[in-house]
Amino acid sequence: MRRERVMGWKGIVLAGGAGTRLHPVTLATSKQLLPIYNKPMIYYPISTLMLGGIRDILIVSTPTDLPRIRELLGDGHTIGVRFSYAEQAEPRGIAQVFLIGADFIGNDPVCLILGDNLFYGDTEFLRRTLSHKQGATVFGYPVKDPQRYGVVEIDRDGRAVTIEEKPANPRSHYAVPGLYCYDPEVVDIARGLRPSARNELEITDVNLAYLARNALRVNLLTRGMAWLDAGTPESLLEAGNFVATIEHRQGLQIGCLEEVAYRMEYIDAHQLERNAAMLGKSDYGQYLLQVLETSMV
Ligand code: DAU
Repeated sequence: MRRERVMGWKGIVLAGGAGTRLHPVTLATSKQLLPIYNKPMIYYPISTLMLGGIRDILIVSTPTDLPRIRELLGDGHTIGVRFSYAEQAEPRGIAQVFLIGADFIGNDPVCLILGDNLFYGDTEFLRRTLSHKQGATVFGYPVKDPQRYGVVEIDRDGRAVTIEEKPANPRSHYAVPGLYCYDPEVVDIARGLRPSARNELEITDVNLAYLARNALRVNLLTRGMAWLDAGTPESLLEAGNFVATIEHRQGLQIGCLEEVAYRMEYIDAHQLERNAAMLGKSDYGQYLLQVLETSMV
């Protein structure tokens, strides 16, 4: 694992929305706090940013859910990162996050991840992507049901031709996952967007603006990577089963923030030990002790 910090990148986790597709489960709680197997959903996207080397992270959620998320994550010092928080008063689209986060972004490039997206596999792809600080990078991932997603059509040279949001007749089977890397221009681009027919500032329109400027890269994720989202009862269950299967097989955890922090050298062994002690006798706390012991051998 490469440990150097990716200088300059900010991270944003968008964890708002009403979670309507999960009602009644999400009537009184945040979707992103629901468990995917043995940890809160939001741990997984945060771990992806951390593995990419990003340590300055803004969490955006609804006024109701934000306090609970803050209670869970705190200021991040126990895992060697800095969490800030901002409210999205109304869910006016994914791209609204760049207006909410404009001051946080400042003049730095920013990587946005959706709070219900889970990536599993070699995260070198993200570190490679973050070495480009100009323009935008999105990803393409083959799926069976592209009409549920933003869909990118690519030419023979791997360049994007079109991106369409939830097309009835998809031009490719490459969905665009909820992980987007932009230069700081994204704030001005978001300021110039008009709401779509569903009255949202669409992330796909941000990507189309970069495409129009000839500044959009599309990196295809290999089939060896897993990308899951967890916005419906089925996908939530599938994601939980996926994590459980891999963890049982390997004895290693996916999305364990304290472990990632330790392996990326954001925290030392003493801090990991304190974190384990706070988590008491849970399997999760025991796992952290195991990480500590095996790394000392
Ligand atoms: O998961 C990847 C897909 O995410 C992309 O392929 C699509 O291009 C993109 O539009 C998005 O599609 P979804 O149908 O998943 O979008 P949804 O409206 O469900 O929002 C995704 C997450 O972002 C969801 O967990 C809630 C959160 N969200 C969404 C909106 C619109 C917010 O926090 N605030 C918002 O205003």
